[in-house]
Amino acid sequence: MYDTGKILAGLVAFIVVATFPLWFTNLFGSPSARPVLELPKGEKKCVEDTEYMRHWHMNMLDQWRNEVVREGKRMYVSSDGRKFEMSLNKNCLKCHESRAKFCDRCHNYMAVDPYCWDCHVTPTGE
Ligand code: HEC
Ligand code: HEC
Ligand code: HEC
Repeated sequence: MYDTGKILAGLVAFIVVATFPLWFTNLFGSPSARPVLELPKGEKKCVEDTEYMRHWHMNMLDQWRNEVVREGKRMYVSSDGRKFEMSLNKNCLKCHESRAKFCDRCHNYMAVDPYCWDCHVTPTGE
């Protein structure tokens, strides 16, 4: 009985994470149910479109890290032809200035804790 509970809890946790992109935008689409994210002022567009970023930024960063560290490539050309340096601090956190008020707010809400900042120090220290 006890074990079944644990397995169920694990299964539920997995499903919540795996289906996150679906319910985050659809089910909890109302502004009050989402954490308030501080969006960059004076910028309208992310590297790729918002929907894509919401779902795939982790994969994008992972790919960037591999390309920079293993292949020495540093430029990313977005699908609409803009050029970006492939960097956590010199890219994402240049627009999203406060990690606390953007990345962390969503991550805390979702109970994810990327370990990147063990090494990468945010430019503003926030
Ligand atoms: C040129 C400035 C700029 C850069 C660089 C940038 N962003 Fe964005 N990002 C934005 C803007 C502006 C929005 C909001 C767009 C909108 O309102 O639809 C956004 C939205 C997002 C969202 C969706 C937020 C939500 O509402 O759910 C995520 C996730 C995100 N960015 C992550 C990243 C990551 C990770 C990086 C680095 C790989 C990055 N951004 C780089 C400007 C930027
Ligand atoms: C709209 C919500 C949201 C925002 C905003 C957001 N993230 Fe995420 N992020 C997530 C979710 C959800 C996951 C976990 C996905 C998973 O486990 O499959 C995640 C995972 C990650 C991971 C992978 C962690 C791991 O251990 O695999 C990295 C790296 C990351 N985010 C970086 C960032 C950065 C940098 C920013 C700010 C520029 C940011 N994220 C903003 C929702 C968000
Ligand atoms: C053990 C320390 C460490 C951890 C943890 C770490 N990195 Fe890095 N990362 C580095 C080092 C060192 C470099 C190489 C710096 C360079 O060449 O500019 C680097 C480079 C990168 C780059 C390209 C260069 C740049 O300016 O950002 C990206 C993107 C990146 N890491 C993303 C991540 C992400 C995403 C995570 C978390 C999922 C992460 N790193 C976790 C040490 C780390």
